[in-house]
Amino acid sequence: MGKVYVITSGKGGTGKTTTAAALASALAKKNLKVLCVDADIGLKNLDLSLGLSEMALPDISDVLGGGVSLESAAFEHPLIPSLYFLPAPSFSSVSDIDPEKMRSFVSEAKRIFDYCIIDSPAGLGSGFRLAARFADAAVIVTTGDVTSCRDAQRVVMELKALGISDISLIVNRVRPRIFRKSGQNIDDIVDAVGARLLGLVPEDRSVIISANQGSPLLLFSARGASAAYGRIAGRILGERIPAGDMKPII
Ligand SMILES: Nc1ncnc2c1ncn2[C@@H]1O[C@H](COP(=O)(O)OP(=O)(O)OP(=O)(O)O)[C@@H](O)[C@H]1O
Ligand SMILES: [Mg+2]
Repeated sequence: MGKVYVITSGKGGTGKTTTAAALASALAKKNLKVLCVDADIGLKNLDLSLGLSEMALPDISDVLGGGVSLESAAFEHPLIPSLYFLPAPSFSSVSDIDPEKMRSFVSEAKRIFDYCIIDSPAGLGSGFRLAARFADAAVIVTTGDVTSCRDAQRVVMELKALGISDISLIVNRVRPRIFRKSGQNIDDIVDAVGARLLGLVPEDRSVIISANQGSPLLLFSARGASAAYGRIAGRILGERIPAGDMKPII
């Protein structure tokens, strides 16, 4: 039985889509069968982070609508074996989707895959609830900005209200110099958000260049943010990964 993670944040632009793609790729690299789902209905971007933007693929609304099975719609990444992708529709809205169909979609995903990573839209609206509602666990992605941390704290409350208690935190775009200059430390962020720390991801221009070039981060770089997502995948799998990457700013 697989496990479903929703990647969420509250505030927009913190790195949810980057995280969904990189984490799913890192888990697939460990020989797990992983489904990466874009649930940002109408504002999809996950195809770009996975380097699959040129493909015309069936999307989640086709599966939820019953026109095609998940097994045949999930597209195996041509360059990352055992990573499968299901895009969001470009021209639908969340109100077109029956939440009960999402429930059976999620249980089917758990039957077929080891992990299902769902990329949620920003905010706390119906799109967020659709993406999160039937997940087993949530990963909140925040930056060090106070606004992002406050929104992440709100998301923790909303997730708990949805019955999700397995909630962890990634602090993304970490720039140690800014942390030092603003007298910030990671413990303060973890305390403010109220979720356990899964990992830190550094600010890394490879994230932007790889997306612009249509290459998955995993294949573009083995260092920086890419290595950080590898460590995070290891922690998800229960591996004992030293917290060395966190030391400079703890
Ligand atoms: N660690 C990083 N280093 C550098 N740039 C990053 C990093 N993480 C994300 N970015 C950049 O930040 C921007 C926003 O990232 P992304 O699209 O993943 O955020 P998002 O939370 O999914 O946004 P939205 O709320 O709009 O869905 C992108 O241009 C991405 O390349
Ligand atoms: Mg996004």
